[in-house]
Parts: sequence; structure tokens; C-alpha cells
Amino acid sequence: MLFDRIKPLEDILESAQKRGLRRQLGAIDLAVLGIGAIIGTGIFVLTSVAAEKAGPGMMYSFVIAGFVCALAALVYSEIAAIVPVAGSAYTYSYAVFGELIAWMVGWALILEYAVAAAAVAVGWSGYINGFLREIGHGLPLFLTAGPRDTVTLADGAIAAGGFNLLAFVVSLLVTLLLIVGTTKSARVTAVLVVVKIAALTIFLVLALPAIDAANFEPMLPNGWGTPASGIGVLGAAASIFFAYIGFDAVSTAAEETRNPNRNVPIGLIGSLGVCTLFYLFVAYAAVGAVGAQPGGELSQSKEPLAFVLRAVGHPVIGNWVASAAIVALPSVILMMLYGQTRVLFTMSRDGLLPAILSRVHPRFHTPHVVTLVTGIGVATFAAIFPVGMLADVSNSGTLFAFFTVALSVMVLRRREPGRHRPFRTPALWLVGPLAMAGCLLLFVSLGWETIRLFLGWAAIGLIVYFAYARRRSVIGKESGSGAAVS
Ligand code: ALA
Repeated sequence: MLFDRIKPLEDILESAQKRGLRRQLGAIDLAVLGIGAIIGTGIFVLTSVAAEKAGPGMMYSFVIAGFVCALAALVYSEIAAIVPVAGSAYTYSYAVFGELIAWMVGWALILEYAVAAAAVAVGWSGYINGFLREIGHGLPLFLTAGPRDTVTLADGAIAAGGFNLLAFVVSLLVTLLLIVGTTKSARVTAVLVVVKIAALTIFLVLALPAIDAANFEPMLPNGWGTPASGIGVLGAAASIFFAYIGFDAVSTAAEETRNPNRNVPIGLIGSLGVCTLFYLFVAYAAVGAVGAQPGGELSQSKEPLAFVLRAVGHPVIGNWVASAAIVALPSVILMMLYGQTRVLFTMSRDGLLPAILSRVHPRFHTPHVVTLVTGIGVATFAAIFPVGMLADVSNSGTLFAFFTVALSVMVLRRREPGRHRPFRTPALWLVGPLAMAGCLLLFVSLGWETIRLFLGWAAIGLIVYFAYARRRSVIGKESGSGAAVS
């Protein structure tokens, strides 16, 4: 049978209890953790991608993507409070839908986390390369972008890049940090959150007064967008969705939270709320200060927020804001890579991936093999592809995962109405279907190229499952249903 391999919730909870993490985080700690994971390449870099796709109408894109994430955060809170363990959507699906769907979700999470890490690395490289150029130490242009990306030559012409050296290097450095055991340190996260919030606040203070009403016209040069076109307001919303990813980091800390019933939803919704507010104002200020027509200067910039400040006469502060991005974005790469390694680690423990991936380093006590393999993959992708494409691909995987999480929360309510739920999603039968519809809308608004890549990736996933994972699965072996095929 295809859907009979379910990992009982009780087993998952029991292994979490064995870890016995102390409940010490409060709502504010969670919100800081969330903001630390959320604010990154999305707002600092993809603002230009959104301008290219939607023009000034990208302000609506920020609203739409934020709304879908708010719905997803509400359903996430319920399952995260019931199953507060690492592995997130993969683990939830194993308990609710069984192994095949869990595998597909885990497979899609590789897109969410690993590809997102690569996207943030490329976004970071845009800022550091711009900064080095500003201070007269710029790298040769062909080392500033990958072969699938573009660079702007001195005469304004556009050419293909060669190898994105700094995106490659930062990915490997973060990998090394993870191998020697650096994880999200609460204090470092808090400092970086202050740096990011300060940078966005300074941006607003200087850009808002420079707003010119003429810059909002025409508002919707590419319209609202059509399915699979990847442009228009919805196309930009599907891309800018990336800016909100990361709030699920809060849900994985539920196990360490005091009074999770109250604090997890406050942390999730609070961090998303703060970021959404900043994003809306930043988008409004950027559009109003310099204009955002497709093909215009903002839409072509690899460091749009610094570009806006330079354009409105504040080059030095533009460099400060760039420095804030340079200092803060590597921690977002770290969180994404960390999330990826923990999902792959759990899948390997479950027998679905080779056992070598769950090997733990004797001295550092970290899963060094899976971290190294993932890091090399991320660095390679970061060296080759442009940030917009990586972010879109990452979004496709995330949207699939969020869709499944919303469905699993509803299925679990029906199947086990009496189960203790520290947090209940309000109006689940409205919020759940709306979250799923929102994910679907954003998914079909991605470009056809991205959708095709996702489908291809899913097809490979199915082949790997039936050719490899299903025969090796621990649950399959325990239940004896693996014997027939192995
Ligand atoms: N939301 C994170 C970012 O924008 C992934 O970089």
C-alpha cells in the first residue's frame, strides 16, 4: 500500500521529549528569532526584481505575499505547538499523510532551504561587490555574477557573468561555521536584528521625504499578471514571497518555549507583522523616491536600497545601509543551511537517505557530512545562478510545503479532534482553505520555467523514492512492508 507508512505522532513526541530541551524562550525571543530569519535578501535585493516584474504595483505584491504568509503562519502555529520538533513540514506530513507525501515534502524542502541559502548568498554578493566597487577595490566584473546571471559593463551594456566568487566563498564559510558547531546564537541574532531594523529605518527616514507622486505613474505597467507568466503584480508577489520566508524558524523553537500556547503564535505572527510593516513602507518609499518602472535603474540594481539612497543624494549613508546588509545577510544563509541540514539529517535517520548523512562528528557533535555535502551544493548553485531565479525556485518548494502543512492541520483536526492542542488556529475552516488557495495562486503565478523546474524536481523525487528510499525506510522495514521490495 502506498499510504500506509505513518510515523505515529506519539513516537515523534517521545523522541522530542527525550531531548528534554529547557523551556526558556518567551514571545519576544521568538519574535527576534523570526525577524532574524525573515529580513534578508528579499527586501534588500529582490525589491529590484519585483520592480522589474510589476513596476510601482509591486507595493500590492508585498501586501498579497504578506497576507498569504500570515495565513500560513496561523496554521503553522497549530501544528508547531502539537509537534514541536525539528524537521518541520517533513515531520508533520510523516505523522499525518505517511511516508510518500512526507518524502515529497522533504524533497521540496531541499528547494526551500538549500536553494534559499544560495539565493541569499547571491543577494549578499550583490551588496559586497557594490561596496568594494564604491571603495575602489571592485573585483573583475566576470567574478561578480554567475554564467546564468548578468553584469552591467562600464558602457551600460549587459553581458553574462562568469563565476560568482564571493557568493561561492560565503556559502563555504557559513558551511564551515556550521560544521564546527555555530548555530543561531540568540545574542548575535538580536544584534543583527537591531542592525537590520536600523538600516531599514534610516532608509525610510531618508527616502520617504524624497517621494514624488509622478514616480507612481503608470502604476501597473505589466498589469496584474496571468498564470505562469511570472510578471505583473501576482508574478512579483510570487517572487517577493521569498522576503517573508523564515518565520517557520520560530515554529521549530516551540520545543524550547515557555507557555507555547500563547508565545508561539505571538512570536510567529509578531515577527511577520513587524517585517510586513517595514516591507510595505520600504517598497512605497523606494518606488516613490526613484520610480520603479520595468527596465528602469532600480529594477536593474543588484543593491536596490543602497542605490535609492545614493540616487536621492546620500551616497555615504547608502554605503552604511549596504554595510548593514553585508554584516547581517550571512546569518540568514546560516539559518537556511541549518534548516536544510536538519531536515536531511532527519530523513537519513528515517532511512530515506543514505545513513552516512546522519553521521555526527565525534568532536564537534554536528552532522558534518550532510552539512558539507549541502554546503558544496549551495556554493555551486550560488556561483552560477541569478538571485531572482534561485528565489523563485525556492518559493515553489516552500509553497508546496505550506500547502501540505495547511492540509495536514485540517486533516488532523478531523481525525483527532480530542488531541491536546496548545494553540488552535482561529477559524481554521476559513483560514486553512484560504492559506491553501493563496499558496496555489502564488505557485501558478511563478514563471513557467520555475513551475517546470519544480515539476521536474518532483518527478525525480518520485523516482528516487521508489528506486531507493522506499526499500530502505526504517518504518517500512519495521512493518515488514519493505521486505517484499528490498
Ligand atoms: N526571507 C529571507 C530573505 O529575504 C529568506 O532573505
